[in-house]
Amino acid sequence: MTVESITLIKPDDWHVHLRDGDMLKQVAPYTARQFGRAIIMPNLVPPVTTTAMAVDYRQRILAAAQDYPDFQPLMTAYLTDDIDDKDLINGHQQGVFTAAKLYPAGATTNSSHGVTDIKRVYPVLEAMQKQGMPLLVHGEVVGDDIDVFDREARFIDDVMQPLLKDIPELKVVFEHITTKDATEFVMSAGDNIAATITAHHLQINRNDMLVGGIKPHLYCLPVAKREQHRQALRQAATSGHKKFFLGTDTAPHAINAKESACGCAGIFTAPHAIEHYAQVFDEENALDKLEAFASINGPNFYSLPINESSISLVKKSQQVPEKFGKSDLAIVPFRAGENLAWQLKTV
Ligand code: DOR
Ligand code: ZN
Repeated sequence: MTVESITLIKPDDWHVHLRDGDMLKQVAPYTARQFGRAIIMPNLVPPVTTTAMAVDYRQRILAAAQDYPDFQPLMTAYLTDDIDDKDLINGHQQGVFTAAKLYPAGATTNSSHGVTDIKRVYPVLEAMQKQGMPLLVHGEVVGDDIDVFDREARFIDDVMQPLLKDIPELKVVFEHITTKDATEFVMSAGDNIAATITAHHLQINRNDMLVGGIKPHLYCLPVAKREQHRQALRQAATSGHKKFFLGTDTAPHAINAKESACGCAGIFTAPHAIEHYAQVFDEENALDKLEAFASINGPNFYSLPINESSISLVKKSQQVPEKFGKSDLAIVPFRAGENLAWQLKTV
């Protein structure tokens, strides 16, 4: 039987870039209209490193999403080599910081203040372990001798394995995984290790980005890998297993920053995020697993309540606009101009 509509517990997005200023005002409503909560990435300029900065940023997000008063941004701290651990833990105890984000220095957009050697922040991570405060990792090792397609697999060997040996009870979310290696690693690790998977990594492989001309709007970090990796991600996400949950990594950049001789990394999926995921789960005959992935596994891992409201999707074709926003703020979304099979029902 073909399914024509589906109702889900309201989903959450466990990995979102909302930026700041006019861009924040433009993009926040797209996330807030679909999701109950969102984990907000702290890689602003300057990065969100203190409780006071996170309190202010949260206010700006709530103002930008005021049409959706039930939306809850969950804030994260950007770890640096010399982060103030007292402030970080206080911020967590006060309910400001839900988690802290590890960007290896140089790994991605605005990561220059990131951690140069994870051992430098071990005391902070030990304090987080005590509190049950999750560490969110951008899982890539950067180095002149490391191929960009190998960065994630190397991170597992060089950083994750030693980290879990040294700080074994730390809760870790391996963000936006892109490889079979990462799915296998997460499955074989303890219950304190989970992963987010983006809609775009479920849909594209590196050929989509590079064959027939370079597609800057499909470039992100970690970069899309070979088809066998995409297949492993699809299997992990649609399994419904408690260790995998929804995190879009929607990352808006204005058109001129993407269509450039040195284009920025990031794919903007926010406007149709849940529809992109529904398409994948439908293709895999796994719509019955979408609710676990989108609405249940995340809050369970974070020890947060599951949302009480719900959303519905109908199987009705819609076209993704060529762009969102005007002039300097215009952004090309994922699958611009293409048809999507599912549509979020607005209430
Ligand atoms: O593609 C990406 N864009 N990956 C990241 O890790 C950062 C993000 C951004 O902030 O643009
Ligand atoms: Zn991200």
